[in-house]
Amino acid sequence: MSLLKISNLNAFYDNSQVLFNLNINITEGKIIALLGRNGAGKSSTFKAITGMIQVKSGSIFLKEKNLTDMPTNKRALAGIGYVPEDRQVFPEHSVEENIDLGKKLNSDIKNSWGKDKIWETFPVLYNLKKRIAGRLSGGEQQMLSIARTLVGNPSILLLDEPSEGLAPKIIEDITKILLNLKKTGATILLAEQNMHFCMNIAQEAIIIDKGKNVWEGNINKLKKDKKTRDKYLAV
Ligand SMILES: Nc1ncnc2c1ncn2[C@@H]1O[C@H](COP(=O)(O)OP(=O)(O)OP(=O)(O)O)[C@@H](O)[C@H]1O
Ligand SMILES: [Mg+2]
Repeated sequence: MSLLKISNLNAFYDNSQVLFNLNINITEGKIIALLGRNGAGKSSTFKAITGMIQVKSGSIFLKEKNLTDMPTNKRALAGIGYVPEDRQVFPEHSVEENIDLGKKLNSDIKNSWGKDKIWETFPVLYNLKKRIAGRLSGGEQQMLSIARTLVGNPSILLLDEPSEGLAPKIIEDITKILLNLKKTGATILLAEQNMHFCMNIAQEAIIIDKGKNVWEGNINKLKKDKKTRDKYLAV
């Protein structure tokens, strides 16, 4: 069943068009890699989904909810969980306070992400719960940003290059966390420039290039398709 459906989307930064008739269809319970080179439009796709750039035509639906003209804060409440490239933790607040800040105002909805489950899923954060977030390493901040977003109980998680700039050990930890989320049936759109990090996590891939979707299919099929990878992905 389709959870997120982007149809014929044209989006702009002021007068400069960045997404061109973009079509993306995300099935519930799948992890999909959103791949493309530097400047291909991955972050802009996320900004269109979260309402941070201007959409001139086309539509974005989360199940039956039309998000196309909804303000950003309402989209978060509707179920869009966004972990931006720059992570955005509250640097002056402790790890635990950051988690508490992720709770949504309308928390009457049944939330499967209580704090106990957060600590269980992110043992690294449990051990750092009194630490000021600004003092965390990049990898720890990445985990905190994911954890804080999960506390909002999103129906889909948008992760923008979560492995970027991190050491192999912490990338391994984040991979484990995402594999755990995969087991729980989470729906995740995972933006990356190349497919190494996504390979064992995502089942499917979508490639975008110059703001258009140019390829989609099973990630194992992409692994065998050197021609497509050479044409559209970073090495
Ligand atoms: N604030 C902005 N104003 C104008 N153009 C922008 C802005 N941010 C990005 N762009 C342009 O939009 C295009 C897509 O950029 P985007 O950041 O979405 O790419 P990306 O796939 O996320 O790349 P990366 O892998 O480097 O993060 C690029 O041509 C970029 O220069
Ligand atoms: Mg980007």
